[in-house]
Formats: sequence, structure tokens, C-alpha cells
Amino acid sequence: MHLTWLGHSCVLLSGTKKVLIDPFVEGASVAHTNPDIVAVTHGHHDHLGETVSLAKKTVAITEIARYLKTKGLDVEGMNLGGTITIDDVTFTMTPALHSSSIDEEGIGYNGGTAAGYVIGMDGVRVYHAGDTALFSDMQLIGNLYHPDIALLPICGRYTMGTAEAMMAASFIGAKRVIPIHYNTWEKIQADPLELKKALERTTDIKVTILKPGESMECTPSE
Ligand code: NI
Ligand code: MN
Repeated sequence: MHLTWLGHSCVLLSGTKKVLIDPFVEGASVAHTNPDIVAVTHGHHDHLGETVSLAKKTVAITEIARYLKTKGLDVEGMNLGGTITIDDVTFTMTPALHSSSIDEEGIGYNGGTAAGYVIGMDGVRVYHAGDTALFSDMQLIGNLYHPDIALLPICGRYTMGTAEAMMAASFIGAKRVIPIHYNTWEKIQADPLELKKALERTTDIKVTILKPGESMECTPSE
């Protein structure tokens, strides 16, 4: 399986199927990735992004699923703690400590609650934390789902920052962490090298810093 960070919170998993998480990149379209399945963590514009115009099979929390159905999308609604399988790809919806609303023409619609996912494909499990603060139940995500790779936000303003991400990484126990959701805008500047240096000095966890558009190969043993 290949993992590509398109930028911000947007990640493409390419294996048996192409799964695109949070289809938003600043100033560009991610339509060229042509995913089979889109997974949305919460309703904020920098995550819902191009979900409607992509019009692919979509996984979302029930409130967002209801909204997307009114746009004519084929949506699989679910909620925190649940697991569904679509075409041999499993989606477990995990809690995230964050807000959620869908903004349309300046009006905020109920987006339910924010979430993350553990996505299993081709024997690899990837945890995408969505936008979240640190929470100690990340230990449960590690103990229950044993993700191989954790995608963690590090911007430190709308989500946790480097110090919290260090503890999150320890809680989750994935052997590899990829920082996301930083440097998209002036207000969310962060240095992913700080996390890499600190985590690799004090733990066995590896941090892979990807450039937007960059891919890496993921194997189950990772
Ligand atoms: Ni958000
Ligand atoms: Mn965000």
C-alpha cells in the first residue's frame, strides 16, 4: 500500500482501493487522485473540502452523511466506535477532541462531532487522527486497533502541537508517525523536525516528514 500526503490533512491511501481522507488542499484540487472512497473526519471546510464535487462513495459521521445525501452522494454513515467494511477496506471511526460544523453560505450546520479513522487495507492499519487535542483514550486506539502508522496534526492552534503529539504518539504506539495539518497558513506554523528529533531521541517511534505530494510505501510489518 502507498500513502501520499497531498497537504494539510489530506492523505491518499492506494492499495486494493484508493481511499482519500479529508479532500482539501489549499489553492489546488485533489480531484486528480480519482479515489474510490472518500473519508471525512469532520465538517470544517479544510476537511470536507471537495467531498461534494468529487461525488465518490463517502464515509462520514451520521450528521455529515445526512448533509451529503442531500447533495446526492452515495454515503455510508457511521459513528464513533463503529467499524464498517467497504470493498475489503475497514473503517473504524475514532473519537477526536475537536468541534465540527458544516459551513455553507456563512451558515453553520450541525456536523455532529469530530472524528478520526483507523483504516485497514492490504494488512496495513493507518490511524488518521483528524483535528484533535491530545486525549488519554488514544491509548485505547493503540491497544484495540494496533495502527502501523499514525497521522497526527501538529499545528498547535486548532489542534494539538508538538509537545502533545509526542505524548499522543506514545499513547498510540504506532511504529511510525507522520505529522500533518501544519504550515498551510500563517496561523498554523509548526516545525515537524522538532517532533522528529524529540520522538526519535526518546522512543523507538520513527517520524516521517513528507513534502506535500510525497508518497511512501507502507508494509504490515512497519
Ligand atoms: Ni477542524
Ligand atoms: Mn482543520
